[in-house]
Amino acid sequence: MRLDKFLCEMNIGTRSQVKALLKQGLVSVNGQTAVKPDLQINTTVDQVTYRGEVLFYEEFVYYMLNKPAGVVSATEDNHDRTVIDLLREELVTNLVNDIFPVGRLDKDTEGLLLLTNDGDLAHRLLSPRKHVEKTYYVQIEKELSPEDLQALEAGVDIGEDQYTLPARVSVLSEREIRLTITEGKFHQVKRMLRAVDNQVLYLKRLSMGTLVLDETLEKGQFRRLHAAELQKLKEGIGRC
Ligand code: URA
Repeated sequence: MRLDKFLCEMNIGTRSQVKALLKQGLVSVNGQTAVKPDLQINTTVDQVTYRGEVLFYEEFVYYMLNKPAGVVSATEDNHDRTVIDLLREELVTNLVNDIFPVGRLDKDTEGLLLLTNDGDLAHRLLSPRKHVEKTYYVQIEKELSPEDLQALEAGVDIGEDQYTLPARVSVLSEREIRLTITEGKFHQVKRMLRAVDNQVLYLKRLSMGTLVLDETLEKGQFRRLHAAELQKLKEGIGRC
């Protein structure tokens, strides 16, 4: 890979910024100052440093986003701002063009969304066979009766071939619940509440598998997953 491409992918700067940094002698390859943008490097063998810090090449990147309402879970959209636009506004790496959201949250839903270029992990997290747990904080129109709770926990008719799989409900207050489901049907939480003659007023995803939303992230903010978070997430869903 060309050195300037590598530095861009590591989010050091745009191609032209990287060229300037090389000229300033801030980058070295295997201990030698490197000034040529077209120097070929082997990302698995060569050690590249920037301002004395070693840059570790990663093929895959993983970001946790606190999705705000009003933004769509897509890579491109003709009308609305997308979750990838939020990344683009801050990252210069070309890798951003390969990043996509793992599953979808509705435009008005907030909370945890994983963004990555790792298609294999995304596939496994979304596979219906894996039954990955997703937990939501839900504000509802009216209090749930004991029968409603029982129905939601056992499975409800949302107009699909089969009832929803058993869910877990924690009642937080009269009009607030925490709901954990193991499927990802279109508008599933809203349809489940409608099935018990209720309505979702506000929806926020709190977790997906072992990955828990970092509540210090403001709406619209994102951060890289920590190595331990990623490892736990992968372990939680197994190999294939
Ligand atoms: N269920 C919904 O109804 N909407 C979401 O965004 C996620 C789950």
